[in-house]
Amino acid sequence: MAHKTLAITGATSGIGRATVQELADDFDEIILLARNEVKAEILKKELKEMNRALKVKVIECNLASLISVEKAALHTQENYEKIDCLINNAGVVSLSRQETADGHELMMGTNYLGHYLLTHYLMPILMKSEAPQIVIVSSNAYGFTTLKSDYFKGKGNVMNLYGRSKLAVLYFMQELHEQFSDQGVRVTAVHPGAVSTNLGRTKQNEKFGNLVYGALRPFFLSPAEGAESTVLAVRNKERYDGMYMHAGKEIRLKPHGRSYYARKRLIKDTIHELYLDEFMEH
Ligand SMILES: NC(=O)c1ccc[n+]([C@@H]2O[C@H](COP(=O)([O-])OP(=O)(O)OC[C@H]3O[C@@H](n4cnc5c(N)ncnc54)[C@H](OP(=O)(O)O)[C@@H]3O)[C@@H](O)[C@H]2O)c1
Repeated sequence: MAHKTLAITGATSGIGRATVQELADDFDEIILLARNEVKAEILKKELKEMNRALKVKVIECNLASLISVEKAALHTQENYEKIDCLINNAGVVSLSRQETADGHELMMGTNYLGHYLLTHYLMPILMKSEAPQIVIVSSNAYGFTTLKSDYFKGKGNVMNLYGRSKLAVLYFMQELHEQFSDQGVRVTAVHPGAVSTNLGRTKQNEKFGNLVYGALRPFFLSPAEGAESTVLAVRNKERYDGMYMHAGKEIRLKPHGRSYYARKRLIKDTIHELYLDEFMEH
């Protein structure tokens, strides 16, 4: 049987952590693309305890720094002939306005641009798989907003800025599907639900965060429950191909989430912003 490799971002906490724990027996090797190598090494140990045959590799990748993303992706390319599945799971919610190392608004820069560049660089080794797959973790927060101009560096309230980044990854999923479906790439975006994780929590707002999550706990899913949509997508790539999905059911996107022109404009602007030549050239 062919050796199967998964690469995932954001596995050091919450939904990503539960995802790799659930998928530990589905793959021969897991690449943890993580900004915090210490947390990733602890997770690596736990995964190895769950499945002794599993190979786990930690590669430093800070999605809020394009140089870090490039280094991580090139390192992956050098060390792996192919990967079979890429899960773009990492995400950030920032209550105050912050920027990435490259001057992009933090949520758009991390959740969308960092993942776009990572996918761009990993595409050649994904295409070496007999059944390549990309799963993108989005959010129904996409519905809060449309993509207004200056979306990479602009201002706004937290829900609008987070929503923009999650709308952008939904357009990204649709573009990948349109351009790579006939080359065998299967791509799905998922909404995990409202899940009790570290999302939006910082040292500064820890008390407040605990209070809010504590009060809302009965209404929130556990990380393992939140990982279910991603796991379903990974295990049923044909069934959910090209879909935005939650808990096994397709979510019909609102009209702005399906806008062809907004998507094409975003992709054109992204190529320009990242100094690339064309969409996912390889
Ligand atoms: N929780 C929800 O209710 C909910 C709802 C809808 C969608 N989502 C989406 O689900 C995904 C997972 O979020 P979660 O709820 O599990 O949150 P979480 O517990 O905060 O986990 C987020 C993960 O992303 C990583 N990350 C954040 N910034 C990064 C960066 N600059 N570079 C690399 N990795 C970075 C974190 O790394 P560290 O461990 O180093 O912090 C962590 O592993 C996100 O895409 C989020 O938008 C969550």
